[in-house]
Amino acid sequence: MSWLFDFWRSSIGGKVTMAVTGVLLFGFVVAHLLGNLQLLAGPDAINAYAKWLHDRGALLWVARGGLLVVFLLHVATAVRLSRANKQARPVPYASEATVQATFASRSMVFSGLTLLVFVVYHLLHFTFGVTNPGDFARKGNGAGGFDVHAMVTHSFSVPAIAVVYAAAQIVLFLHLRHGLRSFAQTLGLCHRRYTPIVERLATVLAALIAAGNAFLALSVLAGIVKVAQ
Ligand code: HEM
Repeated sequence: MSWLFDFWRSSIGGKVTMAVTGVLLFGFVVAHLLGNLQLLAGPDAINAYAKWLHDRGALLWVARGGLLVVFLLHVATAVRLSRANKQARPVPYASEATVQATFASRSMVFSGLTLLVFVVYHLLHFTFGVTNPGDFARKGNGAGGFDVHAMVTHSFSVPAIAVVYAAAQIVLFLHLRHGLRSFAQTLGLCHRRYTPIVERLATVLAALIAAGNAFLALSVLAGIVKVAQ
C-alpha cells in the first residue's frame, strides 16, 4: 500500500488523483441534477425516483460510502497540492500569466471550501433534517415514506433558502468550469487550436449544471412548481 501513498504524495500522483476524483464528483453532480429535475414532472415522479434509490438497499450505501471517500480524497489532495505550491514559491511570480494561474488555483481553493460549506448545509437540510426539521418530517409522510416533493417544495418556498441554493450555484459554476479546464490540461489537451474549444465546452457544461440547479431552487418562488399541500 505504501507505493500507493507514495504515488499520491508525488506531484503527478496528486494531479491524477484530482482528475479522477474530480470526474467522479462531476458525474455525481450531473446524475443528481438529472434525478432532481423529476421535480418538474410532479410529486409522483420525484417520489418514485427517491423510493427507487432507497430500494437499492446495500448498493446505495456502497455508493454513498464511495462518494464520501472520493469527496474526502478530492479535498485532502487539493489542500496538499495548494500547500506544496505555496512552499515551492514563497516569492511572487514576475510574469502576468503565472500570476493569473496562481490566482485561478487560489480561487479554486476558495470556491472549493465554499462548496464544502454548502454541501454540509445541504446534507443537514435534506439528508439529516437538522436545519428544517418541519420540512424534513414531511418526507416521511408520503406513500412508502418518500415524499421528497413535499420536503423540497416547502423548503424552496422560503426565499432565504431558495436564494442560498441559487447563490451557491455561482460558486459551483466557477469551480466546475476551472475544474474541467484543469482536467483537460492533465489529459494533455493543450493546443492552440483545441484549448479555446475545451474552454468553451467547460463553460457551457458548468453553466448548464449550475443553471439547472438554480432553476430548481427558484422554481417554487417562480410559480413553476407548486408547493405540496
Ligand atoms: C436545487 C438543487 C438540489 C436539490 C433539489 C437537491 C436535493 C437533494 C435531496 C432531496 C437529497 C436527499 C436525498 C435523500 O436522502 O433522500 C440530496 C442529497 C445530496 N445532495 Fe443534493 N440537491 C441539489 C443540489 C446539490 C448540489 C449542487 C450538490 C453538490 C455540489 C448536492 C449534493 C448532494 C449530496 C452529496 C447528497 C447526499 C447523497 C446521498 O447520501 O444519497 N446536491 N440532494
